[in-house]
Amino acid sequence: MLEFLKAPGFLSPYGTMGADISSVMAWIFTVLFIYGWRLAKRHQGQRHHTLTLWGMVAMLGYFTAYYLARGLGALALEGKEGFGGPDWVYSYIFLPLLNIHILVISLGLVLAIYMLILGFRTAFKKNSEMHLRAGTLTMAPKIFKNIMIGAGVICGVIAVFRWGPIQRFLVYLSAFVLVVLVLLMERGLEKWIPDGGTRHRKIGAFTMCLYVTALFTSTATYVMLYFIYPVKEVVG
Ligand code: HEM
Repeated sequence: MLEFLKAPGFLSPYGTMGADISSVMAWIFTVLFIYGWRLAKRHQGQRHHTLTLWGMVAMLGYFTAYYLARGLGALALEGKEGFGGPDWVYSYIFLPLLNIHILVISLGLVLAIYMLILGFRTAFKKNSEMHLRAGTLTMAPKIFKNIMIGAGVICGVIAVFRWGPIQRFLVYLSAFVLVVLVLLMERGLEKWIPDGGTRHRKIGAFTMCLYVTALFTSTATYVMLYFIYPVKEVVG
């Protein structure tokens, strides 16, 4: 699998198959989500729900599988060796873009999970169409505590049964931290935007802006790495 991902790609003479497939997938998923946003704006809640839910599941599935196969942060860890341009472009343009991309993607991952849960908590079905419920939406302290304990126990038990290299342990720890982050974020947002429907609309629009930023930054770094400043040697 790793050989296939590292093989020469189809978009640029210098790119890898993994980078090319991921770039195409990022475009497909983002266009899909923008269309889902448009459906929500037109009050087609049911279609928005179906498209966003399965699009998100497919996107999280694809990128998780890709990074597990390729190694997390493959691009970031490649360092200066993977970049064939001048130092100042690397330091002042490429690296800041890459860092913004990583930041936006990390936040986008947390928000994707958060938004899906919020969607289910806020939406209701009436006459075969989905709508957002108006009114204060808060999480009971007991549910907050139970989810935290449940996630801790599940991640802890899996970590013990699949004990191995530290990287594997870090994956389970990250899963637990992700759950805690989503919970804490909900606590903060509940105070800031108490109405569940308004929260879904506002945070949803912000999430969409993050995805568009992620697409632009990833495309810019891709173009710099594989079109403008490639390292001119045979990829293998
Ligand atoms: C990452 C996931 C999601 C994002 C980014 C997202 C984003 C949004 C945004 C931005 C709006 C407001 C559109 C506008 O009026 O300007 C919206 C509305 C809505 N969303 Fe989501 N959403 C997500 C997932 C879900 C899910 C999973 C459900 C259902 C379970 C859902 C149900 C709805 C409904 C019913 C509306 C209202 C449509 C209307 O105004 O009639 N969303 N969403």
